[in-house]
Order: sequence, then structure tokens, then C-alpha cells
Amino acid sequence: MTFLSDLEIVAEALDRQTAKACASAVPVLAQRPMAAVVEDLQLDRFARHGGLEGDALRRFVDRYLGSIINLHHPGYMGHQVAVPHHAAALGALIDASTNNPMAIYEMGPGAAAIEYFVVNWMLEKVGWTPSPLEPGRQSEGAFGGGVLTHGGSLANLTALTAARTAVRPDAWRAGNQGDLALMAPGNTHYSIERAVGILGLGTRNVYQVPTDARGAMDPRLLPQTLARIHGDGKTPMALVANACSTAAGVYDRLRPIGEFCRDEGIWFHVDGAHGAAALLSPDYRHLMDGVELASSLTWDAHKMMRTPSVCAAVLVRDHRAIDTAFDQEASYLFHDKEQPGFDFLHRAVECTKSAMGLRFYLVLAALGEEGLAHYVERQYRLAAQAYEYLKGLDGIETPVAPESNILCFRSPGSDAHQLELRKRILATGDFYITSTQFQNKRYLRLVFMNPDTTLTEVKRLMKQIRRFGADCRIE
Ligand SMILES: Cc1ncc(COP(=O)(O)O)c(C=O)c1O
Repeated sequence: MTFLSDLEIVAEALDRQTAKACASAVPVLAQRPMAAVVEDLQLDRFARHGGLEGDALRRFVDRYLGSIINLHHPGYMGHQVAVPHHAAALGALIDASTNNPMAIYEMGPGAAAIEYFVVNWMLEKVGWTPSPLEPGRQSEGAFGGGVLTHGGSLANLTALTAARTAVRPDAWRAGNQGDLALMAPGNTHYSIERAVGILGLGTRNVYQVPTDARGAMDPRLLPQTLARIHGDGKTPMALVANACSTAAGVYDRLRPIGEFCRDEGIWFHVDGAHGAAALLSPDYRHLMDGVELASSLTWDAHKMMRTPSVCAAVLVRDHRAIDTAFDQEASYLFHDKEQPGFDFLHRAVECTKSAMGLRFYLVLAALGEEGLAHYVERQYRLAAQAYEYLKGLDGIETPVAPESNILCFRSPGSDAHQLELRKRILATGDFYITSTQFQNKRYLRLVFMNPDTTLTEVKRLMKQIRRFGADCRIE
């Protein structure tokens, strides 16, 4: 068997599966007990004896594809995971076959050049100055910078590391004194608090900025939060804003928050893991208004930019902040050398880094930035239409008008009832939806990631919810 013949087997199976999923001809998700999956895939046999190629590979891939969640199914309205464009899958394949861990230029000049280009393209969308391409000039001046990371959580950790270095350059060697504080709304993604824990700042040093009824940070209450920090004898290290929030997809108002941070000299981090893609759209860019005042931004391509996991970016207004964030030496990697390109290694938590830029770039190059913008606009509009529809249904509670492609609602009944409904919906195989806490209540949650989902699917889903709701009402 050759690479090409096995590739043909896999490509043909994937093509068939995607077509079936797009046509709703397979369940979105059919969960079986893990032991049955292990048995069905004959994992033990192949692990011991090898030979997974040719016809055996064909059978294996077919069975594997019977155990996946089908993101291409229009009933997929679940987590904030991109429904991948096929071009990005090709990027992942090229990366896997060549395995160029490009954090140092000589270990993947093509991948490093693409990452450099992608980071600059993103900087330009934010309104920050891209980095120069000429070797030797990459450390001069106050232009922007960034790096692609294996996920938004790592991007957030990298940004907060840079913030800590900016505020306490000696913290890397001396450790923390326990007096650095982080300001953030209570509904930031958990990766923010995790980064605080990893950095050893102490999670009790996270000061929550109060939010309004929609869950957006109230900029008028920033001075009082800062006063509390000062009153406790602490120094603000950074302020984190959501763009948008994970649970309900609500954007914090970045301009007044950014102005406050600028005036107070506080590092301003925008977590745009999900919603920074609004920057691409003339219709929705206003949601990111003021982002250029930020010190750093997280922006995931594997959420709203049709790129498979993982490909995220951390961007900074001034590249020096990320170039000095990690104060380390590794003699076999970091040494003076003349080279025609750029090393990303010193900017990233990771040492071995995949060619993530390739995955995203192939989507960008297939759709063009206008095509990506249309995707974002379509998904955001669908959420608005679904909201209008749900609002008109008897008994359905919609706590907040969506600003993005995330929509929460609640059926009559208790929190436990919402979870029971979700369980029953998932069991049909027709839809995949999630649930979340919002303002201390449990909601069902739709995230419109799939470019083929329409209002028709939403209406069908609501029919099922009505039916199950009548059957299994838990007060
Ligand atoms: C706002 C926000 N930030 C960060 C993350 C974490 O990103 P990742 O899952 O890529 O680590 C998420 C994930 O849902 C998110 O919604």
C-alpha cells in the first residue's frame, strides 16, 4: 500500500461522510459506550500487530466516521468549534505530512513565513502596525507583533504573561509578591482564571468588575473596582474584557474600557477568541470598536474562521511586550545566528509548534477575506432571526438579544428540566445543542457555527423541544 492509495481511501470516505452530514443523512451524534467503540475499532488488535492499511484502513475509517460528531450536519448548533472548510483540512494534511515545527525559522521557513504573514494580516485588521518583513528589522520600533498558539487558552496565558512582565519585569526571576491584581467580569472564559493560577498570581487576586443585565462589563464601575484594588494595597496587572463572552456571546464595550485603561496605565487584554472575527465585517466591526486601545488580543481562527482545531493567535500592539514576555535561554535553540527569517520561539509557551498558519491561510486564500466576512455576517444574522422567532413563541424565555451567533433560551420549567430537554434532543441525533448558566439560571444555548444551518432547523428544533417539554416537564 502506498501513501497515495491510502490517501485515496481516506479522502473518499471523508468526502462521502461530509456529503451525508451536509444532507442530514447521518445523525449529528450517536454516542455509544466507550468500550463498544474500542472494541468496534479493534484498537487492541492493530496496536499489537499493526497492519492498518488498505482494506483494513477502509473499514477502520468507516467505523471511525460512525463514531464522530458530525459538525457539517446543519443540526449542529453546539460548541464554538469551527465547521472546517475543506481547504483547511488540506492545510492540516500538508502540515502533518511534512511536520515542520516552525518556531525556529530553519525548521520550516514556509510555515514561519505564513505565520508571520497571518499575524500581520490580523494586526492590520485590528488597526495596529504590522511588523516589517526585512530580517534584522524585526526587533526595532513600536509596531505590533504576535504568535499563533495551540488554542485560545494558551493565547490568554501568553498575553497575561506579557502583562506581568510589563508591570513587574523582575517577576520572572523573583516570583510574585502576591500583590498583583487582575480586573475582569465574572463571565470571562475559565482560561483567564486558569492563567492567573498558572502564573501564580493567586485567583483571589481576580477582582470582578460588575456587569449589567446583559452580562456586559459596566465601564462606569471600573473606578470603584480599581479603588478596591488600591484599597487592598495591590497593583492592577491587567484588565480583561470579553469580545464576546462565551456563554451568551455579548461584547464588552471596548472603547470606554480601553480609555479607562489608557488613562490609568493598565494593561488591557481583549479576549476575542470567539468574536474578534467581527473585525472582518463592515456590518459588525463596530462591536470591536476601541480594540485598537488594547495592549493584547486573543483571536482564534478555529472558532469563527472555518479552521480546524487548533489555530489561535495572541496579538500585541507593541511587539516588544511579547518579545520580552518570557525571559529564558536554551543554548541549543536561542543563539546568535544570521538568518533570512524570523524565530517565533521566544514568543510562545510551546517549543514544538505546528504549522497552524497554513491551516488558516488556506481557508483565507480559498474564501478571501470578503468570503470570511460573509460567513461571520450570515451566522450573526441567523442568530438575530432565530431570536426574533423564539421571542414569539409562548413560554420561551430569551434573556438577551444576541450580538453574535450565540443565542440562549429557556423552556418553561426548572434548571434540571433544561438539562433533561438537552439530553432528549441529543438522543434523537437530529440536533446538537449545549447549555449554559447565565445570570444564575440554566439556559439552552445555540451557537450557529454551521454555514448550512437555517431558520428551518431552528423551527424543527423548537418543535422537538415543545414535544419533549410536554412529555417530561420538571418543575
Ligand atoms: C472567550 C473565550 N476565550 C478563550 C477560550 C478558550 O479557547 P480554546 O478552547 O481555544 O483554548 C474560549 C473557548 O470557548 C472562549 O470562548
